Amino acid sequence: MATVDAVTPTQLFDPVDVDRQLEAGKVLPPAFYTDASIRRLEESLIFRHAWQMVCAELDVREPGQYVTTEIASVPVVVVRDKDRVLHAFVNICTHRANPIMDEAAGTCHHMRCGYHGWAFALDGRLTAVPKFAEGNLPPLETLGLRPLPIGTFAGIVFVALEPQETLGEQVGELAQLMTEAGYDFPFSNPQSGLEPIAEHTGDYSVDANWKVVAENFAECYHCGPTHPGTFAAALEVGKPDWALTQDGKFGLAAGLPLRKSMKPKFEPRTAEYAGSPYGFAQFFVWPNALILTGAIGDHLMRLDPTGPRSTRLAYWGYKRPGLPEDEVDALYKLLMYDGGAEDKVIMEGVQRGLESGFYEAGPTMAGPEAVVSAFQRQVWEALAPGLR
Ligand code: FES
Ligand SMILES: [Fe+2]
Repeated sequence: MATVDAVTPTQLFDPVDVDRQLEAGKVLPPAFYTDASIRRLEESLIFRHAWQMVCAELDVREPGQYVTTEIASVPVVVVRDKDRVLHAFVNICTHRANPIMDEAAGTCHHMRCGYHGWAFALDGRLTAVPKFAEGNLPPLETLGLRPLPIGTFAGIVFVALEPQETLGEQVGELAQLMTEAGYDFPFSNPQSGLEPIAEHTGDYSVDANWKVVAENFAECYHCGPTHPGTFAAALEVGKPDWALTQDGKFGLAAGLPLRKSMKPKFEPRTAEYAGSPYGFAQFFVWPNALILTGAIGDHLMRLDPTGPRSTRLAYWGYKRPGLPEDEVDALYKLLMYDGGAEDKVIMEGVQRGLESGFYEAGPTMAGPEAVVSAFQRQVWEALAPGLR
């Protein structure tokens, strides 16, 4: 079990006030976005437990294919073994703690540590130790890689360090909302022919708390003023179609139709992406993953807190055959790169505002920002046990 750092809530805010403020439709106190002890608490109470998006299943479809990542500061490797079983391991050598697989992704016959050359089979067993006879080692079966819980949702691989619920419980009724939103689950359909796009896979940093980033994805109230030439130029941003999961779970389905002027570019191929009535649709999986679809093609995204004031935004792009490639590419660039750059400026400005010491928790707009409030309530519910 992860330990929880002691935080004296009264130093930062009164928990009773937080309840009251959220109830009154106000945002979380600024300390939630700036304080290092809150950040550590989030790592213990949210990120060490939550199932985290690692890659699409198709990224590890062949034996030996692997993907590495980091979850709550723990290096992780996901790999498919020779019997096609998918595994997740702590990517740390059981000899003297060197991270074993250092590429982001690749294909291997076995996992060999670069420090002293110990080699592990794709199912995690330690199989080769240089100068073995001189080692006087404990039984090799006690020195295998440490396995981690792994699961898939919508054809996407999730790993958790110390889960407190199943992946199914974490996603709640999201699959149903996605179906109702017209999503056709291309990642779990081997016939969909999705292929990774190296050019649209990468990451960038935002100098803002991860919740500022998540909240920016949780409303389109800002789309007109912030994105007049990007989102608002290509999409009907006025009345986004969205729904939240029930039972206190935060999951979001949101969609924006293409503007009339944009439709001719995509309409001739509508059949190829039947089930995606949107130019841009996103599904937010608590606490920090996004599945994107629509005329922009299919993309995954994960928001990783790297500090109280910084977030790494990782994204993976996939091509869907049959879509007009150049048009998809242009739309994706317009929205995710140009629009993303506009968001980055805003998010970093918001972070400075939160840190100024001259901002008191403001009100949310009950309609257009209902999702922001739902997200903040979920954050508060997760952290409250460590703060009361
Ligand atoms: S630390 Fe991996 S072989 Fe020594
Ligand atoms: Fe935005």
